[in-house]
Amino acid sequence: MKHQIEVSPIVADAFKVAIKAQANSHSPYSHFAVGAALKFKNDEFIYPGCNVENASYGGTICAERTAVFSRVANKGKGHLEFAVVLAHTTNPTYPCAMCLQVFSEFCEVDFPIYMGNENGLLKKMTFKDFLPHSFDTLSEGQRS
Ligand code: THU
Repeated sequence: MKHQIEVSPIVADAFKVAIKAQANSHSPYSHFAVGAALKFKNDEFIYPGCNVENASYGGTICAERTAVFSRVANKGKGHLEFAVVLAHTTNPTYPCAMCLQVFSEFCEVDFPIYMGNENGLLKKMTFKDFLPHSFDTLSEGQRS
């Protein structure tokens, strides 16, 4: 088994939120259930997300983006504090590039992303580890 990492109580709470969200994943096509939990600054609520697949395939949305859009729909845009992403995998599952691009709209480059599985959190990385340079039309095409 991979080594679990020590996390703060709020991240441990988010892990539980992501576990519950993962149980709600609608993934009959890939059978790859993903759960996410997002904490935004100055907001106590932890936003859950799960992947919701569609028979068209292209209509599928990832767990991370479900959670981001839920926050925006509920309270408007915000500043991401950290993310938790879970899958039923031995190794940490990394957020896909499209979700990273969506995160980039609402996060700083040092935004922490915790990854794990149903047994616990396995790895912490920061946004810039994944996407050091993002597409950003508000900053003349780039942000780094
Ligand atoms: N998936 C996510 O939910 N998040 C990611 O970051 C990567 C992929 C989902 C999409 C699809 O339902 C399933 O995983 C398999 O690709």
